[in-house]
Amino acid sequence: MATRKGTTVYLYELAWILPSFAIPVGMLVALVVTAFGAGIHLPGLERRIDPTKVAETPPFDKPGLVELAPGRYEVRMTAQIWSFAPREIRVPAGSTVRFWVTSKDVVHGLLIPKANVNLMLLPGQVAFAEARFDTPGEYLMMCHEYCGIAHHTMAGTVIVEARR
Ligand code: CUA
Repeated sequence: MATRKGTTVYLYELAWILPSFAIPVGMLVALVVTAFGAGIHLPGLERRIDPTKVAETPPFDKPGLVELAPGRYEVRMTAQIWSFAPREIRVPAGSTVRFWVTSKDVVHGLLIPKANVNLMLLPGQVAFAEARFDTPGEYLMMCHEYCGIAHHTMAGTVIVEARR
């Protein structure tokens, strides 16, 4: 009787012990696979600039949209309380836009829900995203990191024009 009860307890314990090892091991495996297999990692030093000199550091000294090739654009953007520069981007439908963005002051965000762009903008850290704009219309860009009293007003627009 005593032995049987003891065995039951042991099995219940085992049912908890095994997952408690399997879960962290599984997480470690996921970490290794994403880091080395998928190449997902924290932004590196190569994309960092002096946060106090964003306005003087190319390409952020001249924020704006640049056409790299037909249908391929690059936008050099700065975020600051409480605006994006440029505030408005205009591209023809079917364009691919590469976003290079950094912050001049505090932590901001750049969210373009309809284009699946979601960046966190740290002062001096250069964030990158690429998006394709196939459907004509207005795409709202907004700051989605609380950055002070007028955070809710910090927004911009990507205007995608129909091709004629
Ligand atoms: Cu910038 Cu919120």
